[in-house]
Amino acid sequence: MYEDGAHVIVLGNEKGGSGKSTTAFHLAVYLLYAGFRVATIDVDSRQQTLTQYVRNRQEWSRSHSLNVPQTTHYHLPLAKGDSISRNQQMEFEVFSHAISEVERRFDFVIVDTPGFDTNLTRLAHSLADSLLTPLNDSLIDLDVLARIDPVTGEPREMSHYARLVQRARKERLAVDGQTIDWVLARNRISMLSSRNMRLVQAGIEQLATRLGARVAEGIGERVIFRSLFPIGMTVFDPLEGALPEGTPSVSHASAQQEYKNLVNVLNLPLSRRAKERQQARKTWAKSRDEGPMVFEQMGPKNG
Ligand SMILES: Nc1ncnc2c1ncn2[C@@H]1O[C@H](COP(=O)(O)OP(=O)(O)O)[C@@H](O)[C@H]1O
Ligand SMILES: [Mg+2]
Repeated sequence: MYEDGAHVIVLGNEKGGSGKSTTAFHLAVYLLYAGFRVATIDVDSRQQTLTQYVRNRQEWSRSHSLNVPQTTHYHLPLAKGDSISRNQQMEFEVFSHAISEVERRFDFVIVDTPGFDTNLTRLAHSLADSLLTPLNDSLIDLDVLARIDPVTGEPREMSHYARLVQRARKERLAVDGQTIDWVLARNRISMLSSRNMRLVQAGIEQLATRLGARVAEGIGERVIFRSLFPIGMTVFDPLEGALPEGTPSVSHASAQQEYKNLVNVLNLPLSRRAKERQQARKTWAKSRDEGPMVFEQMGPKNG
């Protein structure tokens, strides 16, 4: 967002069920384990999946005395009352407040957006430094980006969501001269390679070129995800005894590796952030020339 402010990662795709919330949560936990200060914001006022994921994590870790890192989480009020404009205004206020609170105190802010277009969805997109769009692994799911010619597979007209991103990029450029790095990633990739799957990959690559986006390798379809949400855990957490019997451990290891690859492709300012934090700590320590050297933690519990 700003030179010394939080790096904002937005999960976006107008299609529900493409893996936005799951990916948002996994990225957050991954970055927490890497030692960063991470805040999460749930802009999906209807489903609030990310918020529920965060709550499940708090409950599970409390009841199992697990010391796992937690994100600092913000969510919108559930829409109440009949006045849509009143609700929207309230959501806007809550979101703006959350952003202004987190932008200086965190290294990364992860924003999960809903599968529908609101002013807030647009605003969130225009704040993105990195925009990650998970796409389900079928040709049908690509039409969230463009109409595909059924015969040639060529992308035709840009779809509503692609135009939304284009507008967000323009706004962003006008506001602070920054660009939004847009990454497309397949999700729930079928392990059975088929002609259809190869078409999907080729389609995504063509689309990305047209849209000025990059393509990541993506995440496979893995049974382990089914068991993770109810206990608020990710593939990066200690899971001994937490999963139903018979959950293949290879599923776990592969999912970990795939998420790591995804983070690499996102090209987040990891080392720069780490250096900035070290420097800030040194300066802070110097400025305290008396008293014991206690490194108080800022933000969430992992320091
Ligand atoms: N890689 C994956 N393999 C298997 N299931 C997945 C995977 N990613 C997500 N899911 C499942 O897909 C469903 C939708 O995911 P979700 O993250 O809620 O999507 P969105 O936020 O885009 O609506 C959830 O039930 C989730 O557990
Ligand atoms: Mg969601």
